[in-house]
Amino acid sequence: MTEPAFTPRVFSGIQPSGGLTLGNYLGALKRFVTMQDEGSHETVYCMVDLHAITVWQDPETLRRNTRELCAGFIASGVDPEKSILFNQSAVPEHAQLAWIFNCVARMGWMGRMTQWKDKAGKNAENASLGLFGYPALMAADILVYHATHVPVGEDQKQHLELTRDIAAKFNHDYKVDFFPITEPVIEGAATRVMSLRDGSKKMSKSDPSDASRINMTDDADAIARKIRKAKTDPEPLPDSAEGLADRPEARNLVNIYASLSEKTVDQVMAEVAGQQFGLFKPMLADLAVEKLAPISTEMARLMEDQAEIDKILARGAERAREITAPILAKAYEIVGMVGAEG
Ligand code: TRP
Repeated sequence: MTEPAFTPRVFSGIQPSGGLTLGNYLGALKRFVTMQDEGSHETVYCMVDLHAITVWQDPETLRRNTRELCAGFIASGVDPEKSILFNQSAVPEHAQLAWIFNCVARMGWMGRMTQWKDKAGKNAENASLGLFGYPALMAADILVYHATHVPVGEDQKQHLELTRDIAAKFNHDYKVDFFPITEPVIEGAATRVMSLRDGSKKMSKSDPSDASRINMTDDADAIARKIRKAKTDPEPLPDSAEGLADRPEARNLVNIYASLSEKTVDQVMAEVAGQQFGLFKPMLADLAVEKLAPISTEMARLMEDQAEIDKILARGAERAREITAPILAKAYEIVGMVGAEG
């Protein structure tokens, strides 16, 4: 166990790089709301705009996407009173601690990050230095709150391991027990939302086909239409989860149904065994419209009132800094920065 005991605190972040999908909702936002409402942890949720600019972002679009993401958080049920909700750049301690972590993390560690290798590809010479340092900033996001739990998708697992390595090396090098060794709360592959056109690909905002995804801004008609047109196979639904093993499209639709209805896949299978998609799809479409259309309506309403969103973000940043300022000051002191001695 780590000493001293750390306050149970959840931290997670989403990049405001545009285009929230059903995948973001079921994989992240919906779980954030559950963790918030459980009440056993403080919950801190961040729009990571500093991460977004590791690849080019048009400034006007970035501003819009940040506000839209904030609207998406709130419309999904993140309550800015219960949770701390803010954008990363408004809390300077993230970038300040990231600098220290740039000096703790090793080039070799960073070079092994698969996301770096995927994103930089063969053209690493031309990638930004920020993209290479991305995981050190992510570690700072988490550790500047002494966060103990971090809900993320499977693709972020390696970054969380790096966060633990950075915390451990800092603690070791400076002979302190200052940063907690954070627990990842990894979303299982079973809840990953796949493309509606190809069950082997993740649902993505960057897929050229809009029919492949449900956007959180889609209205009721669009949601229902995309589900009715989703790719399936000609077989009726099986009577157990195992029967879905080699049927990625069918499995995806069943997973979405289970997730939206808060049931297990086995419970859903018991309900729908033997059904044709002609029957199942309208059921799923109705459920998706019932759960998602109010969210897109609320997002649109919030987006009408930019001043209100900005006020919420400013208040969130203020609350965030109450946590981050003392932790950063202590980190500076540990490192030996003059002027930081308490
Ligand atoms: N890298 C994360 C992603 O792309 C976003 C992120 C940035 C994050 N900082 C974080 C997630 C801290 C969790 C905790 O999904």
